[in-house]
Amino acid sequence: MKKLLVAGNWKMNGDSTSVTSLLNSLTGEFDKALDKARFKHCEVLIFPPYVYLAQVADSLRDTQLKLGAQDVDSRDTGAVTGGVAAAMLRDVGCQFVILGHSERRRLFHEDNETITRKFEQCIAHDLCPILCVGESLEQRRTGVTLEVVREQLEFVCDRVGATYMGKAMVAYEPVWAIGTGESAKPEEVEEVHAGIRAYLAGIDAELGASTRLLYGGSVTPENASALLANEDVDGVLAGGASLSGEKFLQVCQAAEMAVLK
Ligand code: 13P
Repeated sequence: MKKLLVAGNWKMNGDSTSVTSLLNSLTGEFDKALDKARFKHCEVLIFPPYVYLAQVADSLRDTQLKLGAQDVDSRDTGAVTGGVAAAMLRDVGCQFVILGHSERRRLFHEDNETITRKFEQCIAHDLCPILCVGESLEQRRTGVTLEVVREQLEFVCDRVGATYMGKAMVAYEPVWAIGTGESAKPEEVEEVHAGIRAYLAGIDAELGASTRLLYGGSVTPENASALLANEDVDGVLAGGASLSGEKFLQVCQAAEMAVLK
């Protein structure tokens, strides 16, 4: 039976008090013997801000929850003031890194070249990249969604090749759905995920079949079941909903139910 993935991107939110309380609500639930059974069919990842990674790693020890980072530097260790290297993320217990998020593309002017270098750093340090792709509202309106997503994917795939791409996941995050409360409709997600899978399958059949595709953009406990019902959706990447222990656990519950259906 396949496992669905539920990831929580905390973005730049929280302080030591709220992080502790969120962790207590999550690990408390996941720790109980009953809850181990309750969340047997989903893999749950959380992505706190850098400064809380070590604290979160400590709390997650001996739980089923896994840790990831929201970003990584494109260079190796050295003279990069303010940079955080892939080796450091690995060192504090991260297994995943979100790359190419639209907020990083927009606010930090990250281009495909930088994202690809970050991807290469992740692979070199045994971190699983979660490559985010997605179109703006304007691009959706002009009917170029699939081309935009394909271009973002193609740049990285051409450079790293199928073997390395096979170590990553792809997250489809339409820019217009992020933080707006307006999730993409299941049929819109289905169309783009099918397009991504077809593109990857064109490179390598196994890559198309096995790459895990996540959806992100206003995921809530209310819409998670419908989004996860699609065969081509292997998980969700939640932002706002991951800041509430209760809501995030409800999304996990929806994933668990979706597998058992
Ligand atoms: P929201 O769930 O808040 O829309 O954020 C989605 C996101 O950007 C996850 O990476």
